[in-house]
Amino acid sequence: MATVETADTAVAEESGVRRRDFINIAAVSFAGAGAVATVFPLVNQMNPSADVLALASVDVDVAAIDRGQAIKILWRKQPVFVRNLTDKEIGEANAVDAASLRDPQTLAERTTVGKENWLITMGVCTHLGCVPLGAAEGENRGEFGGYFCPCHGSHYDTAARIRKGPAPRNLDVPEYEFLSDTVVKIG
Ligand code: FES
Repeated sequence: MATVETADTAVAEESGVRRRDFINIAAVSFAGAGAVATVFPLVNQMNPSADVLALASVDVDVAAIDRGQAIKILWRKQPVFVRNLTDKEIGEANAVDAASLRDPQTLAERTTVGKENWLITMGVCTHLGCVPLGAAEGENRGEFGGYFCPCHGSHYDTAARIRKGPAPRNLDVPEYEFLSDTVVKIG
């Protein structure tokens, strides 16, 4: 029977065995309050308060993510997918008439100008919050080549837009900005 991952279980599985997870650990450094929590995990009094944590951002080094690959990182205890789209995937996303979609958005509206290949979305299905498949190598990316949520069968395309299944919206795009060509700050 297939195992279903939720946003909560993703936290527990961060120490998992997949190669990409090791890249996650290497690629991520917490900024601001997050650094305090990382360096002093056992000193309870020093943990930042919930409102400080809510503001924490995460810097991700994306240099090791090749075209066609993605990684999953954790931000505010939620999974975020960082994906380097191929030209083919960009072409497939742009070939769709966005007006015909359930949640009409173009790839350009979901990415940064000049960095259309970097698709950064929450890894949380907009139906009931499961973590879709497709960020790790070999995972089912669904009928539209993006992400697939196995909980109730939602298919997302290469712009992470909902194309089939019960999810009402595209995967959410978090606030982010590129600090350099290879480092993106999420949050
Ligand atoms: Fe993803 Fe229901 S939670 S399809």
